[in-house]
Amino acid sequence: MKHHSQQAASRFDDWADSYSEGRISSWFRFYQSMAMSQLKIAEGCGFLDVGCGTGWAVRQAAKQLQVGKACGIDISAKMIENAVAETSEAHNIEFQIGDAEAIPYPDESFSSIICTFSIHHYQNPVSALSEMKRVLKPDGSIVILDSARDVSFAIWLQDRGRRYFEKSHVKYYTTKEMTDLIAKAQLQLIGDITTINKFMDHNKVFTGLMLLSCTK
Ligand SMILES: C[S@@+](CC[C@H](N)C(=O)[O-])C[C@H]1O[C@@H](n2cnc3c(N)ncnc32)[C@H](O)[C@@H]1O
Repeated sequence: MKHHSQQAASRFDDWADSYSEGRISSWFRFYQSMAMSQLKIAEGCGFLDVGCGTGWAVRQAAKQLQVGKACGIDISAKMIENAVAETSEAHNIEFQIGDAEAIPYPDESFSSIICTFSIHHYQNPVSALSEMKRVLKPDGSIVILDSARDVSFAIWLQDRGRRYFEKSHVKYYTTKEMTDLIAKAQLQLIGDITTINKFMDHNKVFTGLMLLSCTK
């Protein structure tokens, strides 16, 4: 495992036991649901959550999927261990330890891919987006959701602090930077980027997010 990925794995191993029931777990779930609603999961074949944490979105997708598996990969072994423990026998769910920059699935495996609150940890986000593109079926879609530096000044400030104090944090992107990353990975943006700027939302003081869909 690369040094930076090891740092992310270690930080999230430490968070894994309190992740699903933590103070802002409802915030994560609310916005993951919003990201998933951009996808036609039930009509497609296969779903992948990149940086799946304890796997809540994977379990939701598995209920909708008619064909293929709902899969989750995460760099943190402890997140994956807990994702498996929180999943009661669903025949169409699979979790694996894996790096977003080397997704452990063959080409064109999934119609629907999400990556929520995770891309700001990747050392090379273009490699990760290119990997998502590789495992995406030709008519499939990818939804990215993350904090955005230009949506809220509080998020801009948090980014400065986290770059300094939090080893796994690479950066919160601006909407323009994210558009450029999508273009570099040779993905096509579908529609406009949605931005969300809120104060005191689901136990989180500042919310400053971007949500976007793209395809091959
Ligand atoms: C804040 S959590 C988000 C989890 C989940 N997507 C959600 O929305 O609740 C970020 C997750 O990204 C994972 N992660 C960080 N770097 C990664 C990488 N290079 N490859 C795969 N997962 C990674 C972390 O281990 C962590 O579980």
